[in-house]
Amino acid sequence: MTDSPSKRGAASRKAAPVTPGGESGAPRLGVLLVGMGAISTTLVAGVAAVRQGLARPYGALTQLALMPPEGGRGPQVPLAEYLHLTKLDDIVFGGWDINPGTAYDLAAASGVLEPQLLQAVRPALDAIQPMPGIHDPRYLRRTEGKRVKAETNKFEQAAALRADIRDFKKRHNTGQIVVMWCGSTEVFLPVGPAHQSVRIFETAMRENEPTIAPSMIYAYAALQEGCSFVNATPTLTVDLPVMKELAEKNGCPISGKDLKTGQTLLKTILAPGIRQRMLGLAGWFSTNILGNGDGATLDDPAAFRSKEESKLSALGHILQPELYPELYGKLSHVVKINYYPPRGDNKESWDNIDIVGWLGYPMQIKVNFLCRDSILAAPLLLDLALLSAAAQRGGESGVLEWLGFYFKSPQTLQGKPEHDLAVQYTRLQDAFRALAPKLEKPQPAKVSGARTVRV
Ligand SMILES: NC(=O)c1ccc[n+]([C@@H]2O[C@H](COP(=O)([O-])OP(=O)(O)OC[C@H]3O[C@@H](n4cnc5c(N)ncnc54)[C@H](O)[C@@H]3O)[C@@H](O)[C@H]2O)c1
Repeated sequence: MTDSPSKRGAASRKAAPVTPGGESGAPRLGVLLVGMGAISTTLVAGVAAVRQGLARPYGALTQLALMPPEGGRGPQVPLAEYLHLTKLDDIVFGGWDINPGTAYDLAAASGVLEPQLLQAVRPALDAIQPMPGIHDPRYLRRTEGKRVKAETNKFEQAAALRADIRDFKKRHNTGQIVVMWCGSTEVFLPVGPAHQSVRIFETAMRENEPTIAPSMIYAYAALQEGCSFVNATPTLTVDLPVMKELAEKNGCPISGKDLKTGQTLLKTILAPGIRQRMLGLAGWFSTNILGNGDGATLDDPAAFRSKEESKLSALGHILQPELYPELYGKLSHVVKINYYPPRGDNKESWDNIDIVGWLGYPMQIKVNFLCRDSILAAPLLLDLALLSAAAQRGGESGVLEWLGFYFKSPQTLQGKPEHDLAVQYTRLQDAFRALAPKLEKPQPAKVSGARTVRV
C-alpha cells in the first residue's frame, strides 16, 4: 500500500540555499507562527521548558522516535540523528498576531500551561513580541483585529509581510524559515477562480478580491520569500493551485490541513481495525465540549463548516463503502463541537460507535477522551517545523504528502488523501529513508555578529 519514494507527491527536487549558523553547526531555523494563541504559545513555551530541562517532549517523533534499521538488522538510530534535524537550541521563534501582548501575555491568556511553568519560561516568551497581523472580519467574524497592519490593499499587505520575514531573517541570522498558519479557523471557502495561478492571484490581490482570505496572503508572502509553509488549521490556505505553483517554483515544501490531535486521531486508529475485521458500522456519533479560543471561533457556524469538512472526510476513505456497501453503505456519521467555556483548553470528546457483528447483531463502543487540545497539538507543530525544514534542505518542494500522518485532512498533490494512521506512519518512515541520504551532516560554521534573541 505504500507509495515508492519516487512516486510520492510530485515533490520536485531542487537544492534550497541554506545558510549555516546554529550553535550545533546546523542551519539556524526560524519558525514564524501566524496567530500566537493556544497552540503556538504552547509550542514556544514547551520548547523553552525542554531546553531548560524542566519537562520532556512527549508526543514529538523528532525528539523521541528511533528509526528501525532497514531489513530489521542493526541498531535503532534516533530520528533526529538519522535526518540531522535542527536542534532545539537552534530554533528561533517569532510570529504575528492581531491581538496585543507578548507571547507570554498570549500564553497566559490561553490558560493552557500552569502559571508555575509559564513563569519558569517567561524570559523566552517575553522576548517575542508578535508582529502586527492582517485581519479581515469577513473571515473571522467574532474577533476584532486590535493590532493590524496599516495596509488595506491585499498585495501591499503581502509586501509588508514579506518585509517582516526578511527583517526577521536578518535580525536572527536564520538559514531557513518555516511559516506555520496557526490562526483562528477562517470561515469556509471553496477553491475559486482567483486561486488558479500566481498571475491571476496577484492581479486579484491588487484588486482586493474578496475570496482571498488573510491566511492565503500569509502563505503567498512566505512562499515568495522561500519559506516552507505548514497549515495547522482546516482552512484552505495553501491547498490551492496558486500555492502549489508557487511552492514548486520557489523550492518550498508545503503541507496541511488541520492537525490530527484528538478525536480524529482515535477515529483513524479505530476505524481501520473495524474494517479489517469486516464488522459493520451503522453509525458514528462524535461530540465535543471545548472552551478555548478555538472553541469560541468554531461557535460561528461558518467557521465550524471548515472544521466539519476536515473532520468528516476520514471515515469514508478508511471504510471504503463503495467496496463494502453492505457493511458501510448506510453509515450515519455526525460530528459536533460545543463551545463550553468552563473547560478551557481541556477538551472532552465522546464517540458512540454502533457496530454490527455476526448475524447482524448490534453492539456499541463508547470512547470518552479527556484530552488537552494544545498539549496534543504542540508536538505535532514541532515535528512539522523540523521535518519541513529537513525536507527543504534535502531539495524537496511542493506538497509533502508524506506528512499526512499529522493532519486530519491531509493535503495531496491530486486525488484523495490516505487517512489510516498505520498506513500514514509507514509512508512517513519510507519518506525518512528516502530523505536521509540527501541530508548531509551540517558542518559547524562561524556565526556572524547578528544579535539573536532565542528561546
Ligand atoms: N488545539 C488543537 O488541538 C488544534 C488541532 C487542530 C487544529 N487547530 C487549529 O489551530 C488554530 C489555532 O488554534 P488555537 O487553539 O491556538 O486558537 P486560539 O484562538 O487560541 O489562537 C488563535 C490566534 O490566532 C490569532 N489570529 C486570528 N486571525 C489572525 C490573523 N489573520 N493574523 C494573525 N493572527 C491571527 C488570534 O488573535 C489568536 O491569538 C485553529 O484554527 C484551530 O482550529 C487546533
